Parts: sequence; structure tokens; C-alpha cells
Amino acid sequence: MSPVNDDVMVFVVLAAGLRPVMAPVSPRDGNIDIRVVPESTWRSVGAVLTTNVYGMPDDADELRTRCDRMGIPLLEDAAHAIGTTVGDRPIGTFGKAAAFSLGKHAGATGGGFLALEDPADRKALEHLRDELLAPRQLHRDLAYALRPLARAAVQRLHLVRPVWRVMRTLGLLERERFRMELQERHLREAAGRSPDLGAFDRWVRVDLHGYRREHGRLLRRTLRRRMSGLDTDLSRRREGTRLLGGTVWAAAGVRSAVGDRGVPPLFRVPLMVRDRDKLVARLERCGVVIGYLYDPPLDDFAGPEFVEPSPAPEAARWFAAHALPVDPLLARRMMRLLQREAPQPADPFPGPALRDQSPRV
Ligand SMILES: Cc1ncc(COP(=O)(O)O)c(C=O)c1O
Repeated sequence: MSPVNDDVMVFVVLAAGLRPVMAPVSPRDGNIDIRVVPESTWRSVGAVLTTNVYGMPDDADELRTRCDRMGIPLLEDAAHAIGTTVGDRPIGTFGKAAAFSLGKHAGATGGGFLALEDPADRKALEHLRDELLAPRQLHRDLAYALRPLARAAVQRLHLVRPVWRVMRTLGLLERERFRMELQERHLREAAGRSPDLGAFDRWVRVDLHGYRREHGRLLRRTLRRRMSGLDTDLSRRREGTRLLGGTVWAAAGVRSAVGDRGVPPLFRVPLMVRDRDKLVARLERCGVVIGYLYDPPLDDFAGPEFVEPSPAPEAARWFAAHALPVDPLLARRMMRLLQREAPQPADPFPGPALRDQSPRV
């Protein structure tokens, strides 16, 4: 798996009783760089997990070919990548299974779906899901159904900054900076009990405490309504990606994707800037809170006791330190702010020239 990833993902892998093995990534887009993965790593892993970080596609075709050769499954994390394609083929159709998140593109507050290669696996997975879920609760359903409306109201009333500051003051935000606290002692204990999702609850529930709660009718209806707006959401994302992807700051992978025929409907557009953290602070003062910052990479965050470090960590560190993930739905406002703030583009990654790495999309 890529170390440029949400911290919850490392805890999910640990909860499954597995050891997360970090892959080298491409500085073009932050996804696994298959050309730099050593043979010894290929021989040591039991599965490959993609990220499709911010909606930019992994080399899914190549990864699948390689996984088939090794006799191991490819699993696709498509949380950021509803609507992303490689050629004409959607992300989510390359692996044995793919997980999609409705909390991202559809603007819902949780929920998701699995896409399976073999329909015969469905029954067993439904059974596992039912074993893991806690019974539904009406008041939680109501809270989850109302949350996207509350979020939209806060944005429309320009209350993002005060609300965010109040939440921080009240200790309601679970990440001090971009990563949650590792809680090493507790993690060591939990690792001794894995596989066991419950043992990892304190980490896995971050951002979504009700993640194991079964959805009731009200929430399902809300999710269905939000999903019906998905095509409009994706076209707006393509527009925003086209605008931001044409700027000097856009990550190399995004720039070439935008130059191609089909612009991807990115979840976030990674812009590579020199003093990223200072810019994040300045944007906060303007009421724009930037999320989904995966810095430091997961191997630096969790350490070798819990994860297998990448054999070539530099590109992940560079990408994680410079990426500013901008919501393409806010592209016009962000373009005005970026023109005013005029951040310096990040110095190029001091590895092999980016132009030597062929575009993926
Ligand atoms: C790359 C990635 N994968 C998976 C997830 C989990 O998504 P969800 O909690 O909606 O299932 C996230 C959440 O932010 C993510 O960023």
C-alpha cells in the first residue's frame, strides 16, 4: 500500500491481522510507483491495496497483471475515485474487490459500497458485514442525515472558521495536526489481539464514530437522494479540476491528465506548493479549512514496529510535504485566493526527471 494515505487505513490493515507494507510512490500523483517496487517486496506481500489518492488513478492494469502473476489479490480503495477511469475502464473494476465511500463524492455522511469481481463472494461478505454491524438507532440516523445539511449551512453562512475554532477549543477535533495520535502503548496491546476490529476502535472510528452502525430507512433514503445527484457532482468536479489542473501549481500527474481527452472528476486537486503549511494557515484565516493532508507518510507516522517502511521513502515525503489538496467544487474561490496569496510552486522532486515518467491517464 501507499504511505500517502489516510491514517485510518493503516489501522484497518492492522485490525485485519496484517502487516502494512509501504510501497514507493510516484511524485507525479502520490500513488504506488510500480517501477520502483523491488522484487523482494513483490515476493513478500500477500495482497496489494491501491489508493487512487485524491481521485488520480493507480496503475491498476499493471498492478493487476503483476498480482495475477504472483497469485495474490488486488484490492482497490476507490474512496476518492468514484467516476475515475483508466482509459474507458472505471476504477473499481480491476481488483478482486473495491471499496467506495459515499462520504466523499456524494457529500453524504458515511456509508459506502463494495464492488466485487466474483458475485459468488457476495453472500459470504454480506454475512460478515452483518456480523460486524451494530443495530440501527433512530437518533443516530437523524444526526447523520442532518449533518450534510448543517455542513452546507455553515459554508453558505461563511461560518467555517468560527465553527472549526470552537470545535478545536472544545476538543471535538481528533487530529492535532494532520495525523491522529498514534497511542503507541494502546496500539501494541491492540496488535496483540488482532485480527479484531473492536480492538482498533479508538483509531478506526476517527471522523465517523458511528461507522459500525447499521443504516436505518431515513439514512438510506438520504443517501439514495444524494447519490442521484452524483452525475452533477462529477461534472462540477471535472470543471474545477480543469481549472485548477491548468495552473502552475498542479501536480505533474494532474497536469497531464487535464491535458488529455477526459478530465478526471477529482475528489481533491493536489497543488504542489513550497511553504504548504504556511499556506494552509493563511487559507484557514480566510475561512477555507484544507483537509485530507496525508503528512507525514504512514511509515514515518507509525514507525517500523507497526509497518514495513518503504524501500524508497523520498518521493512520498516530498509529495506529502508539498501537496495542498484543493476541493475542485471550490475552484473559482480558490483561484482568487491563490492569485492573492501567490504561493511559490514546490521545487521539483529531486529524483529522476518527472518527464521521464510516462503519464498514466
Ligand atoms: C484514501 C481513503 N481511503 C478510505 C477512506 C475511508 O473512507 P470512509 O470512512 O468513507 O469509508 C478514506 C477517508 O478519508 C480515505 O481518505
